[in-house]
Amino acid sequence: MHYESQIYHLNNKIEEIEFSIFDSLRNAIEQEQSEINKLSDLIAHIDYFVSAAKCALEYNYVKPIFGDTLDIKGARHAIIEQYKKDFISNDCILNEERMIICITGPNMGGKSTYLRSIALIILMAQCGMYVPASYAKLKLFDGLFVRIGAGDNIFTGDSTFQVEMLECAEALKHSTPNTFIVFDEVGRGTSIRDGISISYAICSYLITKKIYALVSTHYLEMLPIDGIEHYRIKTINNNSNISVLYELEPGIAESSFGLNIAKCVELPKEVLQKSYENYNKLIIKFNSSLN
Ligand SMILES: Nc1ncnc2c1ncn2[C@@H]1O[C@H](COP(=O)(O)OP(=O)(O)OP(=O)(O)O)[C@@H](O)[C@H]1O
Ligand SMILES: [Mg+2]
Repeated sequence: MHYESQIYHLNNKIEEIEFSIFDSLRNAIEQEQSEINKLSDLIAHIDYFVSAAKCALEYNYVKPIFGDTLDIKGARHAIIEQYKKDFISNDCILNEERMIICITGPNMGGKSTYLRSIALIILMAQCGMYVPASYAKLKLFDGLFVRIGAGDNIFTGDSTFQVEMLECAEALKHSTPNTFIVFDEVGRGTSIRDGISISYAICSYLITKKIYALVSTHYLEMLPIDGIEHYRIKTINNNSNISVLYELEPGIAESSFGLNIAKCVELPKEVLQKSYENYNKLIIKFNSSLN
C-alpha cells in the first residue's frame, strides 16, 4: 500500500478507537446518571453551606430573625463593603405604620447602594444565610422585586423606557401585601411631566395596596407624599462644594447636585458654564399640587 494511504487509514482507525472509548465512557456515565446527579447536588449543598458559613464568619454577618416587621440595624452592602473598607452602614425600619420609605439625595450619594443592600439582605436571609448587618429582624416575604438601572432591548423591540415600565408592571401585577418592592428612580426615562405623573401614581398605588417598598427619586417637586416616610442622604454644602456622608437622615434633599457631578467628570468648560447659567434661569412651576 502507498505510504500516504496507510497514514490515511490509520487516522481513520484512530478516530474509530477514540469514538468507541468516548462512547463507552458516555454509556458508563449514563448508567450512573442518577448517582452522579445526587452526588453533584450534595456537593452543591456542601459548597453553599460552607461558603455561607465562611462569609458569615469572615465578614461579620449576623443571624437574621423573622417576625412581623422589618428592623435592620447597620445594614451594609455585601459586595461594595469588600472594596470600600470605610463603608457607611444604615438602618431600615418598616412596619404596618411605615411601609414605604422614599430616599432622596445627591447623585453618587449612595441611594441605589442602600436600596440594593436592603434587597440583598432580604434575599440572603430568605436563602437561609447570615446577613451583613449588626441586627436584622425581617418579615418573611412572598416575593422581592427590584427595578433598578436603565437598559434597552432593541432586538426584542423594547426601548429603554419600555423596559422600565415592563419591569414595574411585572412587579405591581404580582405583588401582594407580603411582597417587598424596590423601585430606584422609577419614571426617570421619560419627560419630567410624564415621569413625575407615573412615579407619583405608583407611590399612591403602593400606599393603597399596603405594599412594603423602598423607592428613590430625583423628582423633588412631587415630595412630600402623604403616607410615605422621607429620608435623605446627609451632605455638607461648603460654598457649593458638596461632600456626601452616605448616611440617611429624615427629610427631603434640597437638590440632586447633578451639576456637581458634571463638574467632577470635567465636562468641557463652556458646557459647564452654560449649565450653571441654565440652572439659575430654570424655574419649573408646579401650579397644581399632586396631593
Ligand atoms: N454607604 C456607603 N458607604 C461608602 N460608600 C458608598 C456607600 N454607598 C455608596 N457608596 C459609594 O458611592 C457610589 C455611588 O453610589 P450610588 O450609585 O448608590 O449613588 P446614587 O445616590 O444612587 O447616585 P445616582 O443618583 O447618580 O444614581 C458607590 O458606587 C459606592 O462606591
Ligand atoms: Mg442611583
